[in-house]
Amino acid sequence: MAGGIGSRFWPMSTPERPKQFIDVLGCGRTLIQLTADRFKGVCPPEHIWVVTSKGFASLVREQLPEIPKENILLEPCMRNTAPCIAYVAWKIAMRYPKANLVVTPADHVVMDTAEFRRVITSALSFTKDSSAILTLGMKPSRPETGYGYIEADIQSASPKNKEVYRVSAFREKPTPVLAAEYIAQPNYYWNAGIFVWNVQTVIRAMRLHQPEIAEIMEDASLSFYSLIEQMVIDELFPKCKSISVDYAIMEQAKEMYVFPADFGWSDLGTWGSLHERTEKDAFNNAAIGPNIHLIESTNCMVHTPENKKVVIQGLDGYIIAEKDNTLLICKLTEEQRIKEFSQMAAR
Ligand code: GDD
Ligand code: MG
Repeated sequence: MAGGIGSRFWPMSTPERPKQFIDVLGCGRTLIQLTADRFKGVCPPEHIWVVTSKGFASLVREQLPEIPKENILLEPCMRNTAPCIAYVAWKIAMRYPKANLVVTPADHVVMDTAEFRRVITSALSFTKDSSAILTLGMKPSRPETGYGYIEADIQSASPKNKEVYRVSAFREKPTPVLAAEYIAQPNYYWNAGIFVWNVQTVIRAMRLHQPEIAEIMEDASLSFYSLIEQMVIDELFPKCKSISVDYAIMEQAKEMYVFPADFGWSDLGTWGSLHERTEKDAFNNAAIGPNIHLIESTNCMVHTPENKKVVIQGLDGYIIAEKDNTLLICKLTEEQRIKEFSQMAAR
């Protein structure tokens, strides 16, 4: 899934080039490239599919040349993750009715790739011939309201895989009060946004919980793999309601399981999360950019372009981020307002 716009990461992330297409970590690979790299050894590149907005087609082709062009599915407009997953599931199922899927965001960071591959491989064997929906559960460390929470029934490890538990409830993006209640209990996990299920399970779940989206995909699928597919998708896809898979399916599905895992996962949703993930100097400053000098400054997150010489004196707890002709200087504690700031700049 690579069609989001990463609005909380402005000005590095813009509607023209959102964060999944940027080398956020300064490691020479963009987030979508790192995501594809992570699946080496799990499946060949021809088995990777990317669902994104039409406007990002050339970015995907340029950044992932090893993925067949036919595997890049283009949405005419954003409809959130449920229609995105429905499209790719119906498409794959037509040619490969027994396909087993890992649905993953393209903009996350994983530190321990070997453990990630082990968990994913084990998860895939769990859902191969089963109607289970398997989520990956991350141990929560704060009452984050931007995530989904999974309540695991820890008394009931699956006989098929002892690392997997039944899900008692799935709750997408709770209030701060509920999130604090959840993390106080030992059996709650963050939803990593990575789902493992086979295509028939996806289709069955869509038919049951989102019959309108399913019907649109049934109609659209008559054109799949033909010359008129894009034309038909352009016409029918916008008719899907905009809803995330978490609300559309996960909150209602019955046969759900969780695989609690620890592979150094981060959603990298905000500047604060990047600050947490990046190597810091002795004064807790994270600087990404070749020419940044921080003097008498502490707790800052700096991200500046290659050609920029930057000197910062006397700041504590600030984001300093520059991209093209836009410069953001904002307190880290105010980062939830960045969307508002980007709208101001656009006026
Ligand atoms: N193709 C496509 N089309 N992709 C999309 C669209 C769309 O309309 N909207 C979002 N995406 C992509 C994003 O680029 C991202 O890679 C992924 O789908 C997830 O969407 P987000 O918008 O980032 O979701 P979220 O972070 O608010 O919440 C999800 O992830 C959390 C963990 O990071 C949920 O699954 C939460 O439950 C989960 O905790
Ligand atoms: Mg996200």
